[in-house]
Amino acid sequence: MNESDATTFSHVPVLLNEAMDELNLHPGKVWVDATAGFGGHLQEMIKRLSGDGKFIGIDRDKQTLSMLRNKLADKAHLFHANYTEIEDVLREAGEQQVTGGILADLGVSSRQLDDAERGFSFLRDGPLDMRMDQSQNLTAEAIVNNYSEKELAEIIFMYGEERHSRRIAKRIIERRPFKNTLALADLVRGCVRPSKYDDSHPATRTFQALRIAVNDELGSLKSFLQQGIQLLAPGARFVVITFHSLEDRIVKQIFKEAALNCICPPRQPICTCTKRSQLLVITRKPIVADKKEVLANPRARSAKLRAGEKLA
Ligand SMILES: C[S@@+](CC[C@H](N)C(=O)[O-])C[C@H]1O[C@@H](n2cnc3c(N)ncnc32)[C@H](O)[C@@H]1O
Repeated sequence: MNESDATTFSHVPVLLNEAMDELNLHPGKVWVDATAGFGGHLQEMIKRLSGDGKFIGIDRDKQTLSMLRNKLADKAHLFHANYTEIEDVLREAGEQQVTGGILADLGVSSRQLDDAERGFSFLRDGPLDMRMDQSQNLTAEAIVNNYSEKELAEIIFMYGEERHSRRIAKRIIERRPFKNTLALADLVRGCVRPSKYDDSHPATRTFQALRIAVNDELGSLKSFLQQGIQLLAPGARFVVITFHSLEDRIVKQIFKEAALNCICPPRQPICTCTKRSQLLVITRKPIVADKKEVLANPRARSAKLRAGEKLA
């Protein structure tokens, strides 16, 4: 896909209305979309506020960002960066605090998944790459072909929650080197017993694990959430959409730690119970997509949205 396809390619933004509601949009504030992608959420924020505010978009994927520039360069400040660099990005944009809110819609976009050359898909043959930021050195191929059996089993178990991790790691070692996605997906299929409770592709969990390891997704997420909470001005919102339990657990835990001792009921605008809390957790239970959205966009099936508000 080339850059001119940006306008024709569609990535359907997940939980769009719910994210806008939880951001509590107000004119004249600073808003950050930390995973701007194809700009679905960012564009909606700008539209709902009629452009009244400062809009900052971040994405670590250079190709995605240059497509986004074609679409939104005149309306938003766009940065090719990891969201762990949010403080530097803000400074470069001339801001010290986020007065409106931060949105993060985690994971990979449909475009990244569908582009075989990026190596994220177990359904399309491509190089074992999986880098979101193509300027980094570590690829899935390097992990699969160089890591020890123990390291591979740990990655597949921890980041993929795959019961058959040891068997998969053993077979990888026996059969490597691997260069392409489909060869690896076939090997995994041979190691995983089909389950009547799980209709996902047998390679789903192994590919998820490798992607998380290549991009250090969980480490980056922790650091970003902690920094993001510090950078919010009082009253500003943090809205995060996750797609698997490992991410959701981290968001839940870090929000909970920041809300330390806060026992205010959800949606109460001011924390009255303690001065130590930094965040009021607005969503005690995550918001999920309704049946209609899941039918229209199967990606929404596993989405969970959590939101918090910075306290004074
Ligand atoms: C699910 S997509 C976002 C889609 C976007 N909300 C939209 O509506 O078009 C996730 C995006 O986050 C980016 N991303 C993932 N991890 C990132 C990180 N650590 N820093 C910055 N961007 C990241 C990916 O490159 C991808 O483009």
